Amino acid sequence: MADTTMTPGTEVSPKEVEAQAVRRRTFAVISHPDAGKSTLTEALLLHARAITTAGATHGKAGRRGTVSDWMTMEQERGISITSAAIQFEYRDSVINLVDTPGHADFSEDTFRVLSAVDAAVMLVDASKGLEVQTMKLFEVCKQRGLPVITVINKWDRPGSAALDLMDEIRTRTGLIPTPLTWPVGIAGDFRGVIERESSDFIRFNRTAGGATRADSERTTAAEAAIEEGDAWVAAAEESELLAEEGQNHDEESFLGGVTTPVLFSAAVLNFGVQHILDTLVDFAPPAEARLDADGGHRPVTSPFSGFVFKVQSGMNSSHRDYVAFVRVCSGQFRRGMVVTHSATGRPFATKYAQQLFGKDREVAEEAWPGDIVGLVNASALRVGDSIHEGSPAVTFPPLPMFAPAHFRAVRPADTSKHKQFRRGIDQLDHEGVIQVMRSDLRGDQAPVLGAVGPMQFEVVEERMSHDFGAAIRSDVLPYQLARRTDKESALILGHDRQVEVLRRSDGTLLALFSTPWRLRNTVRDHPELLLEDLAGGG
Ligand code: G4P
Repeated sequence: MADTTMTPGTEVSPKEVEAQAVRRRTFAVISHPDAGKSTLTEALLLHARAITTAGATHGKAGRRGTVSDWMTMEQERGISITSAAIQFEYRDSVINLVDTPGHADFSEDTFRVLSAVDAAVMLVDASKGLEVQTMKLFEVCKQRGLPVITVINKWDRPGSAALDLMDEIRTRTGLIPTPLTWPVGIAGDFRGVIERESSDFIRFNRTAGGATRADSERTTAAEAAIEEGDAWVAAAEESELLAEEGQNHDEESFLGGVTTPVLFSAAVLNFGVQHILDTLVDFAPPAEARLDADGGHRPVTSPFSGFVFKVQSGMNSSHRDYVAFVRVCSGQFRRGMVVTHSATGRPFATKYAQQLFGKDREVAEEAWPGDIVGLVNASALRVGDSIHEGSPAVTFPPLPMFAPAHFRAVRPADTSKHKQFRRGIDQLDHEGVIQVMRSDLRGDQAPVLGAVGPMQFEVVEERMSHDFGAAIRSDVLPYQLARRTDKESALILGHDRQVEVLRRSDGTLLALFSTPWRLRNTVRDHPELLLEDLAGGG
């Protein structure tokens, strides 16, 4: 475990690294679009006093101006495509909120983000319950063993009964909900919450425009019973029922993925926001030892190491840049330090590093386990790459690529732009924007792009013409399914005119099928072939 030597090249002791790691809470919000993720993000920042007024980020155009929105396309569409990390302090902790794209088409990106966090907040719209995208993202959290805190939002609007929502969580996620707060007043009549541990009533008072912290007051259960009458009695009875069913918070069960603490909020009114922050600080796990690719645990006190979970360029249209976002796993990151790129063994100087506060980038002088740093001009780094300081080398587990379900053959619109085309496609591949496949048959200059969702192609088209000056033409290919195959199987599949085998840039051979029926037939006729499912595939 923690040794007593200094981390190489620094004056920092393992004790200091440990202390910094313990302060970190790195999490992402997972939700279906419109559940209130942008609103909640802003409310959290507002409450932690990381911003001063809601208008500062939200603007007149509503969600379009939210801090974590970057690209023009995001703003036009009002959806979040990029993964921004926002850091702020709350109590004695440093909170890293990593943004996830809400749209299902960017689920691969979301998966990578979730590999960089230590916990997730599952945000649920009270009137809609667990929606499609929430469930998909929840499944990813489950696979990754991430502890999940559930927030039932929009309690100020009519919605389901709180107990029904608990049943839904239990039956659909398999997690036992253990509410930390319980709403007083039905959905649509949000008066406040019972803080279940103390049994106190926290009353929320509306503030004009919701532009400040919500005003709240704490009273005893006895006072609340007099003031709130039936609403209090109903809530107290339900809370009692939950206790009888054993639905009280238990830290070990939460961290072990057996239970999910539940909180109620109205993010737009800043109601319930403090409890969310307190829950993160009190119960969410700090940055801890990470599993490396060999199955060993790398303690946070080891020399600096981290991995790239997101690569992005063109975030700032005034100066094109390339940023590799690194999750720090161990040690102290210092700007200017020279690290080793695990994939190539080459040194890499981290001269330009930044931490992000939405649009405002700050130069990151140092960072600690759990933090996210953006390495600028880090074009040698690809999504999934590990970097480390000193020896022995460390490589973190590869980030799985999802099964593509949409395929297009692409070529430059202007044939004289071959070089730009090649550079652009390679770049978008490095960034993980799209999967790039080739075959001898099609030739090196005619790649096939594979996407989890069709909106990824729009991003490619936009980026190819704007960032790389190489507008593209594309032909939709009639495939729906991809399976991992091997050389031997590929030879046999090559005889089937309905199946195409392509090599993805990570070296994986993919067999593409037009319909599930076609795939079933192939499996039936050739049971000896390797046709394996891919992550997230259907
Ligand atoms: P998202 O990022 O998850 O997609 O959701 P976002 O925060 O953009 O919220 C979606 C809509 O839901 C917004 O309304 C927002 O104001 C509203 N909303 C968020 N939290 C709450 C809540 O607790 N209670 C209520 N009643 N509404 C909430 P909009 O009309 O689409 O946009 P806007 O013009 O109000 O910003």
